[in-house]
Amino acid sequence: MTETKNTNKKAIKIAVSNQKGGVGKTTTVLNIGAALALQNRKVLLVDCDPQHHLSNWLDFSPDGKPTTSDIIFSTVTNQTIDFDNCIRHNEEENIDFIPSINVLAGMLGIIAADNNSSNVISRIFDNEYFNKNYDYIIFDCQTALDLLVTNVLKACDKLLIPVQADILSYEGVEQMTDTFMRVKNDTDIRKYLIGMLVTMYQTNTKHSATIFNELKESYGDLVFNTYISYRTEAKNSVGFRRSSVSDHKSVVGAQYIEVSHKIMEVCENV
Ligand SMILES: Nc1ncnc2c1ncn2[C@@H]1O[C@H](COP(=O)(O)OP(=O)(O)OP(=O)(O)O)[C@@H](O)[C@H]1O
Ligand SMILES: [Mg+2]
Repeated sequence: MTETKNTNKKAIKIAVSNQKGGVGKTTTVLNIGAALALQNRKVLLVDCDPQHHLSNWLDFSPDGKPTTSDIIFSTVTNQTIDFDNCIRHNEEENIDFIPSINVLAGMLGIIAADNNSSNVISRIFDNEYFNKNYDYIIFDCQTALDLLVTNVLKACDKLLIPVQADILSYEGVEQMTDTFMRVKNDTDIRKYLIGMLVTMYQTNTKHSATIFNELKESYGDLVFNTYISYRTEAKNSVGFRRSSVSDHKSVVGAQYIEVSHKIMEVCENV
């Protein structure tokens, strides 16, 4: 295993979340993960969505080893779990990941039954194992603001909100930031928010520019200057089981690499 770059040995935990569906959360998790790995960061992606699109994308097929739901179950029932056995590796992207399966949908009741139910995910990822082995842990959240998602938000140091360049998407952003601050019991979003990332930007319509400018007017430098273009190559990359970042000719890949530079600047002061 390569040494982590993070000298204080604390993995930086990032939630990629938006309660609105289809805005590019999973695409963003995979591509920023791949971009950070390309820059020699040790990256763990955690699939926290029962739809398991991230796991599919990373070419996971059920292998009998523990997935996200097993880790949650073991934690709530106070059983020890061998983390090494939970980690899969994707050779092509040089990324580690913990996959999910649809059983995760049934874990809400299990989490709710815990006597410290808002901190189940925090308890798992506070373990030294993760700080020792990773620079970044990035969580793909499902489209919701339920107890599983709020657990992930609570566990994370940082938040990245993908916002699709479309009017309806824009309207959900405030609810997302309000929920995050409530979960953190804080009022200073700047401490946590790496940024809002405008995705699926279409240069051939005025619509995308309007959303980008309105977000900039409301949130200023909390909006990434880089937006992610709408490109069929990004859509097709799912089928190839590869990130856009791995395709050197991809416009979207280059944009996600720029986004990763901003993430490192914010999280590591580089
Ligand atoms: N930059 C892009 N250009 C074109 N298509 C894209 C782009 N980014 C994402 N997509 C496509 O948009 C769809 C939704 O993206 P994605 O699955 O990443 O969103 P999501 O927010 O994770 O969705 P869900 O709510 O289902 O979890 C997918 O089909 C994906 O391939
Ligand atoms: Mg998704």
